[in-house]
Amino acid sequence: MVSSLSLRSPVAPDARGLPERFLLTADHYTNPVWIPIEQQAIFRRTWLYVGDGDRLQPGMVWARSVAGAPVLIVRDHDGELRVFYNLCPHRAAILSPPAGIHACQKLVCPYHAWVYDLAGNLTGVPSQAQFPESFQKQDFALRSLRLETWSGFMFVCFDDSAPPLVEFLGSIPQHLGQHRTAATQPLAAKQYTVACNWKNYHDNTLCDYHVAIAHRTTLNQVQGPIRHYQHQLEAFVNLLYTPTTADWQAENSVLPTLQGRSREGFFTYGIYPNLHLLGLPNGLLAWLHIEPLTVESCQVSLDLYGDPKFCPPTATLLAEFEAFMQEDMVLTESVQQGYASGAYTPGPVNGLESRIIHQQKLIWDALAAFSDAD
Ligand code: FES
Ligand SMILES: [Fe+2]
Repeated sequence: MVSSLSLRSPVAPDARGLPERFLLTADHYTNPVWIPIEQQAIFRRTWLYVGDGDRLQPGMVWARSVAGAPVLIVRDHDGELRVFYNLCPHRAAILSPPAGIHACQKLVCPYHAWVYDLAGNLTGVPSQAQFPESFQKQDFALRSLRLETWSGFMFVCFDDSAPPLVEFLGSIPQHLGQHRTAATQPLAAKQYTVACNWKNYHDNTLCDYHVAIAHRTTLNQVQGPIRHYQHQLEAFVNLLYTPTTADWQAENSVLPTLQGRSREGFFTYGIYPNLHLLGLPNGLLAWLHIEPLTVESCQVSLDLYGDPKFCPPTATLLAEFEAFMQEDMVLTESVQQGYASGAYTPGPVNGLESRIIHQQKLIWDALAAFSDAD
């Protein structure tokens, strides 16, 4: 039970609005008991990024797992996007076994051949006369989940009580809503397995304290000096805004459609619970998505989108991202070993770690609410 584990009492914030120490302890990063609890308490209760809607043309189905559940993301023949549990309501067989994206006219269950259209309606039942007279096909449609898009990117949510996606995303649509244009396309996608807990990597990506030190010659060159950092903490997302440097301006052109702050700086958003979105004035959008694998490993996925006319060549972009991501992987794996040593208690909080605390508070609250409901 959660309550018997180390959910430390939240510490009252100080004059900076920050707690004295990190809220999450080494146990939260190393004890496997948290993995199923986090699936229920965190991932099944919020919006989860699943990728670009353009990956699915009408009549295509994407079989995959989201938060440990088998799902089918479908674009029907009218272009409507939907998501269903990949589960037959008759006897729970998985409908579409091969993971991945497939062209598909209809979904046929491999067990007793119930047939579903791409809107999830049950349209065919072998030996239907052998069911009781009360049997109605409309009572056995596929069970759907919420799917909403922002700027063409799809998010899925298991929880009917979560706010609409646009509300969840806070100021992101306002600041990055014009970055994607008709010419935007996927530039690169790459996955990395990292030997650290997913929250450890998320903390690192939210950390504005290490950039000038650990990424001195890489990311720090783009983000510029700490004195120009501007932070914004919202309900579910937080922002580090850094004005473009003279070097960046000399080497890049700004997307002409952008206005105001969107033209003038880099937006580095942290998004609850495991997502990051970077938006640059050349129109580049970079998603970093961190999936738990085991308690001590995670998969980090990098998806880059932009207009090739305005963004650097893909090889250059990937090399730039990988340069600082490799630095982070070394650090997060080192921190993971420290957490596992049994010798660590959380240290004090620097003001440049406020975005970590913002997300740890949300994680804390979700675990505590789950524990109370238990
Ligand atoms: S389990 Fe799917 S038709 Fe029986
Ligand atoms: Fe980093």
